[in-house]
Amino acid sequence: MKGMFITFEGSEGCGKSTQSRMLYRFLKAKGYDTVYLREPGGTKISEKIRKILLDYKNEGMTAVSELLLYMASRAQVVSEAIRPALQQNKIVICDRFLDSTIAYQGYGLGMDINLIKYIGTFVSGGIEPNMTIFLDLPVTKGLNGRSRVKDRIERRNFAYHQRVRQGYLKIAALEPKRVKIIKVNRDKAVTQGKIRKSILEQCHLKI
Ligand code: TMP
Repeated sequence: MKGMFITFEGSEGCGKSTQSRMLYRFLKAKGYDTVYLREPGGTKISEKIRKILLDYKNEGMTAVSELLLYMASRAQVVSEAIRPALQQNKIVICDRFLDSTIAYQGYGLGMDINLIKYIGTFVSGGIEPNMTIFLDLPVTKGLNGRSRVKDRIERRNFAYHQRVRQGYLKIAALEPKRVKIIKVNRDKAVTQGKIRKSILEQCHLKI
């Protein structure tokens, strides 16, 4: 597979979407053929699955349904958007990917991590990020920053979100080459500067 697959990860309110979009615009402006996607979402069907997953009224959803819906959404976006873009030698920036499932359903909900990785490989056909930016922010800061109505996942308690963050730190410790931990700075431009430096070094992009 040619192309370059870059994912962004982090707990609630870490500024991941803003930062990943800033990087997308930067790479586009530098002439790189770049695609921006988010998970769950990124295709018509995946966006519909996203609505089901995040609707706070679906409080009765079981952990197994939740896991498989995230995976179904992923199967669709990999097949419709990620794989074709990588085959066309593009840079794909994705706001969340399999590490989210390992952190939120694995470490957060206590589901079997090996099983998650197994299903993850099945749905992605083995596509893995070349590089992952983990934006790290203490849970209290992230959760308090949100003004809109909280979704089904955001409503989970503090201990849950702590497990998610600790889970990410474990993922990063296990795969330090792929996963770069970037501490979120109050100044968005500072955080973006650190991300760009990291990407340019790791992915050997010429700017
Ligand atoms: P977002 O708000 O960052 O777009 O992500 C949607 C929510 O879904 C967020 O709370 C994290 C959660 N999530 C999972 O629990 N498992 C997953 O596999 C993914 C991709 C997201």
